[in-house]
Amino acid sequence: PETIVVSELANRMAERAADVVKSLMQMGMMVSINQPIDADTAELVIEEFGHRAVRVSDSDVEQVIDTVEDKDEDRQPRPPIITIMGHVDHGKTSLLDAIRHANVVSGEAGGITQHIGAYQVTTDGGAVLTFLDTPGHAAFTSMRARGANVTDIVVLVVAADDAVMPQTVEAINHAKAAKVPMIVAINKVDKPAADPNKVRTALLQHEVVVEQMSGDVQDVEVSAKTGQGLDQLLEAIALQAEILELRANPERAAQGAVIEAQLDVGRGPVATVLVQNGTLKRGDIFVVGEQWGKVRALINDKGERVEEAGPSVPVEVLGLNGTPEAGDVLNVVETEAQAREIADYRIQAAKDKRAAAGAAVTLDQMMAKA
Ligand code: GTP
Ligand code: MG
Repeated sequence: PETIVVSELANRMAERAADVVKSLMQMGMMVSINQPIDADTAELVIEEFGHRAVRVSDSDVEQVIDTVEDKDEDRQPRPPIITIMGHVDHGKTSLLDAIRHANVVSGEAGGITQHIGAYQVTTDGGAVLTFLDTPGHAAFTSMRARGANVTDIVVLVVAADDAVMPQTVEAINHAKAAKVPMIVAINKVDKPAADPNKVRTALLQHEVVVEQMSGDVQDVEVSAKTGQGLDQLLEAIALQAEILELRANPERAAQGAVIEAQLDVGRGPVATVLVQNGTLKRGDIFVVGEQWGKVRALINDKGERVEEAGPSVPVEVLGLNGTPEAGDVLNVVETEAQAREIADYRIQAAKDKRAAAGAAVTLDQMMAKA
């Protein structure tokens, strides 16, 4: 199988080799600068660093990496992408619902069916925020493993009448591993048994020091039920987003991540894609994981057909030849032949990998018997 030496990969991406080694370590791989890694891993790293990896298989399967960086003047501010995490029943969905209803323009409120598991809201201050509804912890992890680091900010929901629970800790660990800043939303403060300070103290044990405890993690007391604190929470998010100075180049060919995908009886394969860079347009040809397609229609979070979707915009994409998986990366390419070729190549590579894994198991079994 094709491999690339870590230092060479770093070179082609114009990144520091030490950072590449660090990124590999975070994926659980202990390698040195002079060691080779396989192409799949290289691709994860490339995407982790925000570059585009396009592997093209010609006669002697060659790896082509597009490392064209956006020029500073082409990079425009983009909305932050926020994932809400926390323990079961601590109020994640309620909080999302409350935020949405508090912000969806009146007249649209209530009656809207959410077609996709991601949506945008505009705060009173005019900031646009993209919320992800779907990723549970497992999805978050698998998306990260696939190199689709889609979250800019994690909102950690902890119920004030409960405690820091196992999934709270998991969420903290995920956010830390992904180096994503966190905002703590202490929810259910309307309840008589609510004790926000107990939550703040409990978080200390997990090295989350909130502002009220003289730390630098923003904490906001909220109630999804009464709406208390929601504006402050949105402000906290907008402030954090400002610090991050999130930018993307709307003028380039789109790159995005699949949030969810399914085979729709009437419409065929449908993928909800969060555009991360560039602008996805109707008619664009793309490859996404082992699938490819041509954008037949784009549908926004309000169920409306749109002509294009820019950075941080979630859209449903129609026109796929098959159903991709959550976490798959979508790349717009120039020709159908190219898209087909890359998809075919990936399918073959996955097959080879499975075959190799199968062979290894057989060998192990033989050794065990001997
Ligand atoms: P899972 O999706 O199962 O992990 O739960 P969740 O975190 O999405 O919690 P959900 O929003 O479903 O809320 C769980 C329960 O808590 C529901 O019965 C909500 O009505 C209730 N709840 C959520 N937020 C509040 C709040 O601020 N105050 C009160 N009193 N109840 C709340
Ligand atoms: Mg829920």
